[in-house]
Amino acid sequence: MDNIRLTPDRMARLAGINASRPVKVIAVTGGKGGVGKTSVSANLAVSMASRGRDVMLVDADLGLANVDVVLGLRTRFHLGHVLQGACALEDAIVTGPHGLQVVPGASGYKRMANLTPAENAGIVRAFSDLYHQVEVLIVDTAAGLHDSVMTFSQAAQHVLVVVCDEPASITDAYALIKVLSREHGVQRFQILANQTRKSGEGPALFEKIKRVCDRFLNVTLEFAGSVPYDDYLRRAVQHQSAVVDTYPASISSMALKKLAAKADTWSAPQGARGHLEFFVERMVGAQMGPATVLQ
Ligand SMILES: Nc1ncnc2c1ncn2[C@@H]1O[C@H](COP(=O)(O)OP(=O)(O)OP(=O)(O)O)[C@@H](O)[C@H]1O
Ligand SMILES: [Mg+2]
Repeated sequence: MDNIRLTPDRMARLAGINASRPVKVIAVTGGKGGVGKTSVSANLAVSMASRGRDVMLVDADLGLANVDVVLGLRTRFHLGHVLQGACALEDAIVTGPHGLQVVPGASGYKRMANLTPAENAGIVRAFSDLYHQVEVLIVDTAAGLHDSVMTFSQAAQHVLVVVCDEPASITDAYALIKVLSREHGVQRFQILANQTRKSGEGPALFEKIKRVCDRFLNVTLEFAGSVPYDDYLRRAVQHQSAVVDTYPASISSMALKKLAAKADTWSAPQGARGHLEFFVERMVGAQMGPATVLQ
């Protein structure tokens, strides 16, 4: 008799909803190379972890992975090994500062865009098993408009676009927003101005991008804030540590911690949308084509 009792967990499962905690998925992207995606992802992840959240940072830059290098972590396996079945996702995870869990990127592994059905099933299973350990999943994406960038951004609930006040960065960010909105159904973007050099530069940069987007695209842009140019951030990268830990009083550190506090207030997903299985299914669906993506 006991084994047919309807516990809340079982009821939720019967209703098709997992009773585990919802997972907030944030994709950090930007279009142009070198704008600061990895620095922002790593420091946002470390800051949110230090605020007591269970955070996982996934390095989805499959060409030039370096989240583990930036944080000075020793790794044995990476996402590519997981996809090849050479190890389980748990084996690839390394622990960073404040209990942050890091999934190292698959440097040089370019097959993410066309995984075999077995690999798709494998990655869904691998991430699904982790849902109970993760509250916030931060994905550091590659530069450019690669399939992997589209896949991860489309699957996330919050897309953070890192932009610098220079023409190439603005053009590339616009191109990324355009493709994500027109071809991948992403309508909301958080804009973060990075490497700003004077006060007022961030809001002005945001207004510049918003004006063009409002004119030509059907999107909603929100200003996530500004991170000033800061030599302490560069110094922290050289020491392979997060600036928020090594130089907590520096200007970039203060701004990144403010971003973490803000990201903490971004709405957590409700119901089935919030679970990692759902995130991974959307990821896999995106690879199979828009028609198969769960909405
Ligand atoms: N706010 C900042 N102040 C000073 N330097 C910064 C800042 N943000 C990033 N940088 C520096 O810019 C360089 C590029 O940063 P990062 O690797 O984070 O960019 P990225 O967008 O991830 O690059 P890629 O496209 O190659 O993945 C690094 O040397 C980093 O230290
Ligand atoms: Mg990077």
